[in-house]
Parts: sequence; C-alpha cells; structure tokens
Amino acid sequence: MTATEEAVLSPMYRTAELDDLPDIQIIDSTAFRDRPYPYFVLKQLIEGSTRCVVAVEPDTDGEDDVVGYALTMADGGRAWLMSLAVSPERRGSGYGRGLLQRTVEVCLEKGDVDEILLTVDPKNRSAYNLFKDFGFVLHDRDERYFGDDEPRDVLIYKVHRVPDPLPALQD
Ligand SMILES: CC(C)(COP(=O)(O)OP(=O)(O)OC[C@H]1O[C@@H](n2cnc3c(N)ncnc32)[C@H](O)[C@@H]1OP(=O)(O)O)[C@@H](O)C(=O)NCCC(=O)NCCS
Repeated sequence: MTATEEAVLSPMYRTAELDDLPDIQIIDSTAFRDRPYPYFVLKQLIEGSTRCVVAVEPDTDGEDDVVGYALTMADGGRAWLMSLAVSPERRGSGYGRGLLQRTVEVCLEKGDVDEILLTVDPKNRSAYNLFKDFGFVLHDRDERYFGDDEPRDVLIYKVHRVPDPLPALQD
C-alpha cells in the first residue's frame, strides 16, 4: 500500500488554522475558478468561526497537507456552510462526505444550532448528490443569487440534538 492510499484510508479532520490558509486558498481558487473567495474573506472565516474544518494527509515530512475544507459560520441557531471543496486529485475518496460529517459533529458538540444551510448550483451534480445523499433537503430557491440566470438552491439539514436529560424526580 502506498503512503497516499494509507492516508486516504485514515483521513484526519481537524479545526482549520490560519497556517492552513494558503492551502485552503489554492483549493478554493481551483474549485471556484469564476468566483473564488478573496484571501481576506477566507481569513476572516477561519479566524471568526471555530467550526471550520480541514481534511489533512501527512506529507513526506510528516507535515499536514490540506486536501479539503468546509467553512461554516453560525448565528442565531443556524449554521451556514459557506464553502466546501476537496482538491481535484483527492475527489471521490470520501473526503467531501467526511468533511460534512465532521461539520455536523462540531455543531452537535457545540449544541447551539438546529439546522445547517447552504447554497448550491442546481447544475453541480457532484455536490448536489453529496448533499442529498447526506440528508440535506431543498429549502428554497434563489433565482438571482448571482444575478440573471444564476440561480442557487438553498438546502437544509436538520441537526438532531440529543435532548438534555430530564432533572431527577424529587421525593
Ligand atoms: C463536491 C465535492 C466537495 C465532493 O467531494 P468528494 O470528496 O469528491 O466527495 P465524496 O468522495 O465524499 O463523495 C460523496 C458523494 O458525493 C457524490 N459525488 C461525489 N463526486 C461525484 C461525481 N463526480 N458525480 C456524481 N456524484 C458525486 C456521490 O453521491 C458520492 O457518494 P458515493 O461515493 O457513495 O457515490 C467535490 O467534488 C468538490 O470539491 N467540488 C468542487 C467544489 C464544489 O462544487 N463544492 C460544493 C459547492 S456548494
């Protein structure tokens, strides 16, 4: 088994750090060629939210090589998945699903949101399949999200929180 195969079998997901920013920017600008996030926006997302996660593989020096990211912000009981992408050579290996799973786990750990929303191009079949398969459902459609002829579907995922235990009965 090659080192890469081994790494794909044991992907690691962790909170994104500012040191990951250059890798994240490369993946973002490759995935969203027409509309990449500016560097400062990626920076603000990573600095401003503790629910941004990366998938990493160790490189030959044992350093983290970022192969995908999911950037999420939360406000008022809702989280928004602002961006999700996997580097082209690592797609189809389960990282996209793993990043979503880790994002949901982080939201559950924090226990402060009931739903995760995102926007997706209805023509983006790989992303749409991933989200549908994961359990996201159609919530709304914005016909002019990016202007004329640029609609986006808004999808929603209900986070199933474990209810707090009931207080013990008093005698
Ligand atoms: C969308 C994206 C994040 C998926 O990441 P990935 O690591 O390749 O996804 P996974 O390997 O975890 O695949 C999970 C599921 O996604 C769907 N999927 C992934 N690639 C697909 C493809 N090329 N065609 C159709 N469905 C696909 C399948 O349902 C797949 O499940 P399966 O493996 O059981 O068939 C990746 O393609 C990407 O970075 N795309 C460019 C950026 C983007 O479009 N982001 C979403 C914006 S809203």
